Amino acid sequence: MSTSKAQVFIDTNRTIASISPLLFGGFAEHMGRCIYEGIYDPESSQADSRGFRKDVLDALRKQAYTTIRYPGGNFLSGYNWLDGVGPKDQRPRRRELAWQSTETNQFGTNEFIEFCTAIDAKPMLAVNMGTGTIQAASDLVEYCNVPDGTYWSDLRVSHDYKDPHDVRYWCVGNEMDGFWQIGHLDAVEYGKKALEAAKMMKWQDPTIKTVLCGSSNDRMPTYPEWDRTALEIAWEAMDYHSMHYYAGNRESDTASYLASAVLLERFVETLEGTLRYVKAKRRSKHDVYLSWDEWQVWYKGDPIQGNWTEAPHLAEEIYNLEDALVVAQWLNVFLRKSHVLKIACVAQIVNVISWLQTRGDELLKQPSYYVFKLFSNLARGEALDTLVKAPMVETKEYDAVPALDVSSSFNFETQKGAIFLVNRSQTEAMVTDIVWQNGNPVQIDEAWQLTGRDPKESNSWDDPNRLVANAISTPDVKDDRATIQLPPLSFTVVTFQL
Ligand code: AHR
Repeated sequence: MSTSKAQVFIDTNRTIASISPLLFGGFAEHMGRCIYEGIYDPESSQADSRGFRKDVLDALRKQAYTTIRYPGGNFLSGYNWLDGVGPKDQRPRRRELAWQSTETNQFGTNEFIEFCTAIDAKPMLAVNMGTGTIQAASDLVEYCNVPDGTYWSDLRVSHDYKDPHDVRYWCVGNEMDGFWQIGHLDAVEYGKKALEAAKMMKWQDPTIKTVLCGSSNDRMPTYPEWDRTALEIAWEAMDYHSMHYYAGNRESDTASYLASAVLLERFVETLEGTLRYVKAKRRSKHDVYLSWDEWQVWYKGDPIQGNWTEAPHLAEEIYNLEDALVVAQWLNVFLRKSHVLKIACVAQIVNVISWLQTRGDELLKQPSYYVFKLFSNLARGEALDTLVKAPMVETKEYDAVPALDVSSSFNFETQKGAIFLVNRSQTEAMVTDIVWQNGNPVQIDEAWQLTGRDPKESNSWDDPNRLVANAISTPDVKDDRATIQLPPLSFTVVTFQL
């Protein structure tokens, strides 16, 4: 292993924007074993009185999720929300077409709200724009948010939920640009339907915030024209525009894969430009922000169709060190783009494309679990514009990129900050000087590191703690600077106090 030098400059005057707490959200879909056997498993010895798995709740609480998006995903576009409310023994079993599974509807909107309360996250519900009507979307808002005295609000009360759920965030459909979507529409058809749905939903409750479906990824033939067209039609009725993206080392090219932040940042920049264009074209005073409400690593080829079984094993990815380092860069991008990115939901929170896996009554945490946990607990206040000087790493896909990918945050109330550093070099340790430029005395509180020798290393049921984030000794600060060793293939967090 060779060694190089790098420098990271922190100046709390150089702020980007306040970090939206909703950037640390998750997504739970009726797909595979996310809901059943993941969140809800009444047969498990881990189940609480509501049937929620206590071990999963505990792991999710530690990750400090701020919001959870539900119920889909592709599942959403064939879902009738009425199937999932009321007495459980009267709920229909249905063929679920998106994932070719059998849906028992034992978990629905009210159970979801209880689950969110249990992990202290805000619910983000999605309305069906595939087979669903704008009327059904409006009815669901009435069911959830109107106190009582009307047909749908009284139905909720009759289901033993006296107080309204007060759901603030609403996705108007899911991936409607995709040919795979049940009831797929073109951008004009979708823009008009979403506008009419959002109008009715906001008449039901003017305090809600709505999310328009953006392109399913940047490889869609209609990207970014879809985004422009739908936004131009529905702009005034929408508060957020959604982004989805699944990364992967599809070409077995680790150097390029470890530079994924370049692509992720470009994706945000293109859509930020689209938002600015549409706002200008419409001569609007209204702002729309980005909601990256599905993001994760997903490429390893696990089955995605359930052969009409209940809770099949679908998309249960095994994540390794390089995947965890890509997740860390993704979260760095969230901080660096926090002026326009206000919501993000990792897809998904358990079992399906997830860093958390259940097996019987056991639970496994994959390496990226720890990366998210560090960000969601420590990134607070303002995102800082961090200056990085590091040697370059050559990649096939993105030419030369700096070996270090960094973000940082500072909370002016507590005077505490955090620096998140990825060393994406596979061979070189970076002896990195962190330089504080404010001139105030600095104290380093904690340092955490996740690293390994092989990018393909992972945790397993037999070796569950091979890759975790370990507390490491904190470097001394002298003359406003500290020197820290960042091994190749590592993610490090340093917290400080001014
Ligand atoms: O998260 C899994 C699936 O990925 C979602 O259902 C869909 O929106 C996306 O294509």
